[in-house]
Order: sequence, then C-alpha cells, then structure tokens
Amino acid sequence: MTNLLTLPGPLDPHVHLRGLEWSHKATFVSETAAALAGGYWAVLDMPNTPPATISQAALQTKLAAIGGEAVCDWGVYFGASQDDNTAEYAGLTDVCGLKMYNNATTGSLLIGEQALRARHYAAWPAGKVIAVHAEGPTVAEVLELVRRYRRPTHFCHISTIEELDYLRAAKAAGLPVSIGVTPHHLYLTEDDVRTLGPLGRMKPELKTQSDVCALWVAIDEGLVDVVESDHAPHTLAEKAADIPPSGVPGLETTLPLLGKAVHDGRLTAGQMIALVATNPARIFGLHPPAETYTVFDLDDAYVIERGGLRTLPGWSPFEGMRVYGRVREVWIRGRKVFDGERVLAAPGSGINLFAGR
Ligand code: DOR
Ligand code: ZN
Repeated sequence: MTNLLTLPGPLDPHVHLRGLEWSHKATFVSETAAALAGGYWAVLDMPNTPPATISQAALQTKLAAIGGEAVCDWGVYFGASQDDNTAEYAGLTDVCGLKMYNNATTGSLLIGEQALRARHYAAWPAGKVIAVHAEGPTVAEVLELVRRYRRPTHFCHISTIEELDYLRAAKAAGLPVSIGVTPHHLYLTEDDVRTLGPLGRMKPELKTQSDVCALWVAIDEGLVDVVESDHAPHTLAEKAADIPPSGVPGLETTLPLLGKAVHDGRLTAGQMIALVATNPARIFGLHPPAETYTVFDLDDAYVIERGGLRTLPGWSPFEGMRVYGRVREVWIRGRKVFDGERVLAAPGSGINLFAGR
C-alpha cells in the first residue's frame, strides 16, 4: 500500500554540517547527501564548527567550502561572538541569519552577559532573523531583548514547559518570535539516557515525560512553528570518550518520526507540512523554487538501524524505533536529486539561498 505525501521544499533551519576543521566528524558532501536522503530541499548551517563563522574571513572560507560540496540547497548563519564582533554586521550579506548561543554548547560560542547580548541585538540588521540557543530563564532574558529591539527571533530547540510558557505569553503579546522543537525532545526523555549513554547526550539535554507531553500539546495548539533536527554529528569514538561531546545526528530520521506521528494520529499531514516546509520557509523569507518537492511514502514502516544512514558517523539515537515514512524522491528545480536510494546531484550543485541577500 502507498500513501504518498508531497512535501513542498522541506527545509531544516538547524543543522551542524561540520566540514572544515571538523571534517573527521562529517563533511559538507556527506551531510548534504544525508539531507537529501532525509527528504530535505535545503538546510541552514550553524556557525560553531571551527573556524567559527564569526568573521568575514571565516564566512568566506565556509561559503567557498559548502559552495563546492553541497548537493542540496543551503544557507549559513553568522555567529555572535563573546569578543564583540558586531562591527562585522553592517553590510553583511550571504547569510541566513545570526546565531546567538546564550547557554553552553559544543564549541566556544557563549554569550552569558545580558549587556553584550543587547549589543548584538542592536547591531544586527533589522529584518534578518536571530536564532537563539536559550534554555530555561534565559528564554525570558532574550525575550526582553526582542521586546526592546524587535528583531525577528527564532527560539531553537525549545524543550520544557517553562520555556513554552514564556513563549506562549510572548506570542500573545505580539512579539516577533518563532519556536523550533527537535525530534529527540519529542520522542526521548531523560530516562533514555540510561540506555543510550553518551548517544543520548545533547544540548539542551533530554527532559521529563511531562515536558515531552507539553511539546506535543504545543504542536497541537499551533504554538510550535518548526520541527528542526539540530543535526550534530560526532563520531562513535568521540562519543565513547571520557567526556563525550554533546549532539546527535537527525537529518535522516526527522521526517520518518513525524510520519510515525501522522500514522499514530498525533499529527495531521497538513501540520507536518507546516512544521517542516512552509513555516521554516516563511520564517526565513524563502520560497521553494518551481518543481522543488519531496515525495514521501507515509505507509512504509521500518525500524531505524545503524548502517542504514548516510550521515558520516552512521549512528542514530533512534536506533530500534519503528517509524512510518520513506523518502521516495527529492526534486530541486525540476531535477530529481534523490531517487529513494541514490543521490543523483553532483557536489557543488546546491546553491546558497541567501546569496546577495
Ligand atoms: O548538542 C548539541 N550539539 N547542541 C548544540 O547546541 C551544538 C551541537 C554541536 O554542534 O555538536
Ligand atoms: Zn544546534
């Protein structure tokens, strides 16, 4: 049986593709191929991979590297640095937005001081998105800046009842905010860390069952705008170290996990399309090009297994989970770029969706 769903240009606005100095974890070729296999038209890459994307020079390095390798369309974030790099913001083009880390994460980008956060907010060009990593009470601190500077702000990987409450109030007050949640915060809890060990470690960490339930309620009420993978590949060897890095791959499991939610009656197909395609495109001012879509078979059930994935580290925190939904075809600008088994696009054929913007 087949139950084919056409997704209009799925866009994952939160991925860490690696490459450059972290090419041993993953490369722009491997992870943009994983994006196509996961059903995505485009991905937006985070700035915390060394050399961190916090200067014009590092930005040009990254644009050139992804430009030569990407098989799907893409964008890159500029990063806010604790060594005030706001002088770089004026006239900055070719980026999809600014990423500001307000709580600790992988890499060295962290802005803990409200006065410095304010300087970044004031300097960032009006109208361009600021994506923030903010957890717990930090959400309220960032919302104060949104109120003051009115910059459109995307709250990444929201994972708790408390954070949802702050943001529900912010939306009710008309602030220009959007909300992303990840599949791992929707399907796993802190209890899973016992079995997953370091493969269940990421920032923000997994939360309680009540938090998970609240995220699903927030999706149902239309509060959540985006399901984003926070795809963050680390090798199994790194994850086995005494102090393992935080982060999990997710590009190839997000759509099948949402397909499972549709199958289980927790989500409608229309909600799924909004969460992975139309909402993220709207937030970043994008329209998928003509003849850009993904054919997704909602009735193909299978178990996620190690070895069945293209992401270079090859593992998933969802191994053993039964999901619904197989990516049959991905089309970009009238060209079939994934046929359900093979990536058909050549490295470098993906374009920067924010070139000149
Ligand atoms: O778990 C995480 N890993 N959270 C982040 O914010 C960064 C990411 C990474 O780059 O590994
Ligand atoms: Zn992230």
